[in-house]
Amino acid sequence: MTVEIEARVAELVKPYAGKRSELIQALHRVQSELGHIPKAAQAVVAEALGVPPSQVTGVVSFYHFFRTAPAGQHTVRLCLGTACHVRGAERVLKAIQEELGVGLGATSADGMFTVEGVRCLGACGLAPVMMVDDEVYGRLDPKRVKRILREVGKDGG
Ligand code: FES
Repeated sequence: MTVEIEARVAELVKPYAGKRSELIQALHRVQSELGHIPKAAQAVVAEALGVPPSQVTGVVSFYHFFRTAPAGQHTVRLCLGTACHVRGAERVLKAIQEELGVGLGATSADGMFTVEGVRCLGACGLAPVMMVDDEVYGRLDPKRVKRILREVGKDGG
């Protein structure tokens, strides 16, 4: 499996060979094809571009839009923008953690939900806000957050 991934990634990053400054673009390409950037893929990217593996790992972990594991069936995007922060995004996050057992940047153990933090979903008047897949949910309180996640989880994939 790893060998297959390595070969595929090597092909994907060929256009970036030796181009250290294009690390982010190369990683985006890998993620858009594989859905995430596993450890084995990071090593191939490092070698192809000529950057230290630690730099690739650092970039992948710094930017929350890069994932190192496959995404869950549903994506929860919690707004961490100013309006949502002021109106209780922390409480929403706590409710998500209690319900799913994971926080930002992680996927629930059952593979059902991936939780991400984002900056402003453009619905500040409804703060605090989260999106689950393409649906926007506003004026959230912990009880409602848990109810929404249970409903979505019940529907499966
Ligand atoms: S700050 Fe949360 S939607 Fe704008």
